[in-house]
Amino acid sequence: MSETIHRVQDSWRKGALIDEATYRSWYERSVTDPDGFWGEHGRRLDWFKPYTKVKNASFDGDVSIKWFEDGELNVSHNCIDRHLATRGDQIAIIWEGDDPSEDKRITYRQLHEAVCRYANVLKAQGVKKGDRVTIYMPMIVETAYAMLACTRIGAIHSVVFGGFSPDSLAGRIVDCKSDVVITADEGLRGGRKVPLKENADKAAEIAAAAGNTVRKVLVVRRTGGKVNWVEGRDLWLDEAASEASPECPAEPMKAEDPLFILYTSGSTGKPKGVLHTTGGYLVHVSMTHQYIFDYHDGDIYWCTADVGWVTGHSYILYGPLANGATTLMFEGVPNYPDASRFWQVVDKHKVNIFYTAPTAIRALMGAGDEWVKKGKRTSLRILGSVGEPINPEAWEWYFNVVGEGRCPVVDTWWQTENGGILIAPLPGATDLKPGSATRPFFGVVPRIIDNEGNTVEGAGSGNLCIAEPWPGMMRTVYGDHARFVETYFSTYKGLYFTGDGCRRDEDGYYWITGRVDDVLNVSGHRMGTAEVESALVAHEKVSEAAVVGYPHDVKGQGIYCYVTLMEGETGSDELRKELIAHVRKEIGPIAAPDKIQFAPALPKTRSAKIMRRILRKIAEDDFGSLGDTSTLADPSVVDDLIANRQNKR
Ligand code: PRX
Repeated sequence: MSETIHRVQDSWRKGALIDEATYRSWYERSVTDPDGFWGEHGRRLDWFKPYTKVKNASFDGDVSIKWFEDGELNVSHNCIDRHLATRGDQIAIIWEGDDPSEDKRITYRQLHEAVCRYANVLKAQGVKKGDRVTIYMPMIVETAYAMLACTRIGAIHSVVFGGFSPDSLAGRIVDCKSDVVITADEGLRGGRKVPLKENADKAAEIAAAAGNTVRKVLVVRRTGGKVNWVEGRDLWLDEAASEASPECPAEPMKAEDPLFILYTSGSTGKPKGVLHTTGGYLVHVSMTHQYIFDYHDGDIYWCTADVGWVTGHSYILYGPLANGATTLMFEGVPNYPDASRFWQVVDKHKVNIFYTAPTAIRALMGAGDEWVKKGKRTSLRILGSVGEPINPEAWEWYFNVVGEGRCPVVDTWWQTENGGILIAPLPGATDLKPGSATRPFFGVVPRIIDNEGNTVEGAGSGNLCIAEPWPGMMRTVYGDHARFVETYFSTYKGLYFTGDGCRRDEDGYYWITGRVDDVLNVSGHRMGTAEVESALVAHEKVSEAAVVGYPHDVKGQGIYCYVTLMEGETGSDELRKELIAHVRKEIGPIAAPDKIQFAPALPKTRSAKIMRRILRKIAEDDFGSLGDTSTLADPSVVDDLIANRQNKR
C-alpha cells in the first residue's frame, strides 16, 4: 500500500487551534480523566441548569450511556438564541438553489424568528415534548427551520432522506409511531422534480394500513407544483408560519432527553432507529466541527451532504450552528448544470472549508481537471472527506487539483451511531497519509480485535471496536434496547463493535478498510444486503435472491444481485429492467441494482446457508480463488454462476 506522507505545512500550523503538543496532551487527558476533560469542554455550551455529573456510562451488561445527566439545555437555544447578542446580523445559513440563479442568506436573527414561528405552528397542531415528527424534505432552509423547531419544543425529529420511497418512509413512520409529517410539494435536484408530497401521501396510506394514522401533514411550498390535498389533515406550513408568533421560548431539556431518531441499515432486519440525545451529542458535534475543520470565526463552511443523513444533521446544522458559523446548504447535485458546479459555488460564496464524499470526488475526477479549473477556489483552506474509504488516488487529486496542494485534507471516519467524527486528522497537528483517517479524536479509544478475538497491540489489522463511551454516541435503538445491545455489544464483550475492518500502522494511524458485515456502502449511502434481497423477493417472478457488493470505480461499491426466478420464468434484459425499477420503487433510487445475474440455483451449504464468500468472489470476477467449495450441497452450481457472471473484465 502506498504510504506517502504529507507533512503539516507551516501555513496550516500558523493560527491553527490545535498543534501537535496540544493534541497529545489533550488526548492523554481525555482518556485518563474523561470526567475532568469533558466536564471542562461541556461548558462550551449554554446550560439552563449546569451539570454536576459528567460521565455515567458503561458498555457492560445492559449498556447504559449517560453524559451530563443532571444538566439542562436546549439545542435550538444553543444553535440560535445565544448568538443573537453578538452575531444577530451574521449569516447563519447560505442557501444555494439547484438553479444557480437562486440563493438566500438567512441571518441568525431571521433564523430565530423563522424557527420560533415553526415551533409555534407545531405546538398549535398539538405536537408536544417527546412526540416524534417525521421530516421528509428537500435541501431547503425550511428543513433546517423544521428540525430546529422540533428541538426548540422538545419534539424528537426523524428525518427521512427525500430519495427514499413511500414504502421506506412508511416503515420509518410506523416504527417510531409518528403521527405528524413535514414535507414539501416537490423537491428539485439536478433540474428534476421529486414528488415528495405524493410520496408522503402514499406513505401515510401504507402507515394507516399498518395501524399508524398520520394525523397532520405540514407542507412547505417549494416548486408550486400541483399536489393532492386531504382536508383537515394537510396544512400549508409556510402560510401557517407567517401567521404564527415570532417568539417561542426554548424548552429546557434534560441532557439525556431524546433529540432525534435517524434510521440506518444494518446487516440484518429492517433499518434501526438510532437514538441520539441532547447534551453529549451537541458537545461532541460542536467540538469536532471546531477542531477537525479548524473552524475560525468568520469562516464560510460548506458540507455537501443531504440533511437526510447523519452528516447533514451533525455537520450542516448542529455542529456549525452551535459554533455560530455560517453554514452553506446546497439543494443541487455536483454535475448540474455542469461538472464545475461545486467550484462555482465555492467562488460565489467564498467558501473556506469544504466537506464532501469520496464518491463525488471520484466522479469529478473522472469528469476531468478542466471543470475544476473553471473555478478559482482561492478561498478554500480546508478540505474534508466522509462516508467511505477514500482511495489514495482520489485523495491526491482532491489535494493537488482541487486544493492545489495548499489545503489539508481531513478524512473523517465515523458512523450514524457515533453522532460525530471519531477518527480524523487535525489540520495544524497531524501529518497526513492519503487513505488513512489518521488518529482518534479526543476521548476516542479505538481497539482492534483479530478474527480469533484477541486484541491487536501496535501495528496490525482486524475488526475495529471502540473501548470507551464518548459523549455523542447513540443511546439505544428506538423502542428496542435489546437490539442495541445485541447489535453493537455482543460480538466483543465490553466493546462497541463498529462493523468496520481496519489496520493500524507503525505510527498509530488507522486505515479503515470497509465493512466486514453484510452492509453495503454505495456512493456513501449505507444499506443492508438483506433489504435489497427482501425487495427483490417481493417481486412475483422472484423466488430467491442474494445480494453482494463489488468494487465500483465511482460508487465505491456497486450492488450485484443473484436472482433465482420462479418455476417457469426466464431471465431477460426486460426482466432485469423490471427488477431494477421494482427495487427503486420499494426502497428508493439509491438501492437500484447495478448488476443482476439470473441464477438457476445459489451456492448453499448442506444446512442451506448461502455461501456469500463465493458470490462475492464471482461478483468481483475473481473466481480463481474461490477457496473450499467441497462443503456445498451441489458444487456444480458454481460453474453455472461463473459462466454467466455479469462482471467479466
Ligand atoms: O464503513 C464506514 C463508512 O461508512 C460507515 C458508516 O456509514 P453511515 O452510518 O451512513 O455514516 C456515514 C457518514 C458518517 C462506516 O461504518 N465510512 C464513513 N466514513 C468513512 C468510512 N470509511 C472509511 N473512511 C471514512 N472516512
